[in-house]
Amino acid sequence: MKTKVIRMKPGDFDREAVQEAGRIIREGGLVAFPTETVYGLGGNALDELAAQKIYHAKGRPSDNPLIIHIADMDSLEKIVTEIPEKARLLADAYWPGPLTMIFPKSDIVPCGTTGGMDTVAVRMPDHPLALALIRAGGGYIAAPSANTSGRPSPTRSEHVEEDLTGKIDMILDGGPVGIGLESTIIDFAEDIPTILRPGYINRQMLEDIIGPVEIDRGLIAADSGIRPKAPGMKYRHYAPNAELVVVEGAQENVQEKIRELAEEKIRQGYQVGIIATDESSDAYPLGLVKKIGTRKNEESIALHLFGILREFDDCEVSFIYSEAFNTPRMGQAIMNRLLKAAGQQKIQV
Ligand code: TXA
Ligand code: MG
Repeated sequence: MKTKVIRMKPGDFDREAVQEAGRIIREGGLVAFPTETVYGLGGNALDELAAQKIYHAKGRPSDNPLIIHIADMDSLEKIVTEIPEKARLLADAYWPGPLTMIFPKSDIVPCGTTGGMDTVAVRMPDHPLALALIRAGGGYIAAPSANTSGRPSPTRSEHVEEDLTGKIDMILDGGPVGIGLESTIIDFAEDIPTILRPGYINRQMLEDIIGPVEIDRGLIAADSGIRPKAPGMKYRHYAPNAELVVVEGAQENVQEKIRELAEEKIRQGYQVGIIATDESSDAYPLGLVKKIGTRKNEESIALHLFGILREFDDCEVSFIYSEAFNTPRMGQAIMNRLLKAAGQQKIQV
């Protein structure tokens, strides 16, 4: 299949191209597009065959449900049977935005889209091009992140092209995304709403609007065998080709430990990568040191995490050592993705 790539500015996009992309979606084809979190791989959410094509293009297990992207609140009413009051409050506060909510699904949503579940995940993305595509595509776009299953989510069009060229109809390149980590997912099935996947909208931001919120135990005890409630969170994800280990503790101890680990591997003849920040990169004399961002602006760390993991895949390193990033607002989301990429390998110093 030939994949057409159309490049445009997110604020000033080519309306004709968006109409063409919308037509592809309505006819059952697949279009990758930018959102504020990561690039998505879109297909018509109400078309079971389109969902199958998405799973196939990504190489994704079909028990892992897709998020339906909508552009207005009326669309929500049609695909769910009930909207809890707390969900309405959160939608008022954070939609369009990086928040996905789980609802009981209505009959028009095929089981192929929800991985056989009777609930459906919905979000309204905060990106002009994404919203225009959803409208042009008929109102309901099922979209997982636009990466090959298991690889880091794409934060730039190049990442999508790397993974999906030849497998989908079109890629809309709207430039790099703004956040770089996937949306927060919240579920209302229990008395106290539960975060199934941490993201930019953190626990405090949710609690400010709806009161107490819990975090899925399967996420906190990620190595304990407790099953996470979002099926996708159980899979090993984002893993680079090299073995990745995260070192956590006081900054000086972390730097000393990473220097020691790097030196040992280099002495044994391996190439080593190090994930550092603008502040710490000079502390590592050996290894291929990459700066992920600055601790003065934690958003910069979130934004570059997936890109850095991909960059290391293009290098010959066998081991990667990363500092931990328990930053105040996005630390939970960043560490969730980083530790997943590391297969939960963490050294405490
Ligand atoms: O930011 C995002 O959410 C991006 C952009 C493209 O919108 N999308 C995204 O989709 O990250 P994906 O498919 O890579 O991740 C969706 C996650 C998976 O972990 C999946 O298991 C979970 O959402 N999920 C989907 N439907 C669910 C449901 N009904 N119940 C529980 N978890 C669900
Ligand atoms: Mg994904």
